Amino acid sequence: MAILKVVHFPDDRLRCKCRPVEVIDDKIKTLAADMFETMYHDEGIGLAAPQVGLKIRMVVIDIPGDDGEQGKPENQVVLINPEITAREGEVLSTEGCLSVPEYNAEITRSEKVQVKALNLNGEEVTYDAGGLFAICLQHEIEHLDGTLFIDHLSALKRGMLLKKYTKLKKEAKRSGVEY
Ligand code: NI
Repeated sequence: MAILKVVHFPDDRLRCKCRPVEVIDDKIKTLAADMFETMYHDEGIGLAAPQVGLKIRMVVIDIPGDDGEQGKPENQVVLINPEITAREGEVLSTEGCLSVPEYNAEITRSEKVQVKALNLNGEEVTYDAGGLFAICLQHEIEHLDGTLFIDHLSALKRGMLLKKYTKLKKEAKRSGVEY
C-alpha cells in the first residue's frame, strides 16, 4: 500500500470529466487500498480518484462510527462508476475537501440520495443514504465531473479562494515545498 499525492486546488486535474472504469482488476483493487490509506493519512472521510490525479470514476468513503474510528472493513465503501439515481429534501452542509486544504464552507445539498454503483467485486450495489453519508456521496461523485464543493459558493467567494490558493501554490513552488 502507498500514500498517494493529493492534488490541490487550483489544478486542471480536478476539473476533468472522468471516464468509467471498464475492468475491475488487481490494479483497481490496489488503487482502492491506496486511496483509503491516503484518505486516512490526510484525515478525510471520502476521496475521489481525480484527487490523486486519475481520471476514472472511482470513489472511496469511510464515515467514522459512533466511536470515531475509521478503517473498519464494514464501513469502507468503494464506489465504481457511481450514479445518483434519486434525491430528496434539502439540507445545509458544512464541508471541506482534501484538495482545498484548511477551508470549510456551508452549502446546500440534497438531504437523502440513492446511489447505484459497482463494488470491487463488480457487483451492482445500491445505497439509500441520509446524514453525513448522503453528503459525502454527493461531494465525492461531483468530483468525478470536475466539480468542487466551492463551486456552490458565490462567484465572489470563489474568486477570493482562487486568488488565495494560487498564491499559496506559488509560494510553495518558490520555496521548493511540494503542494
Ligand atoms: Ni473533496
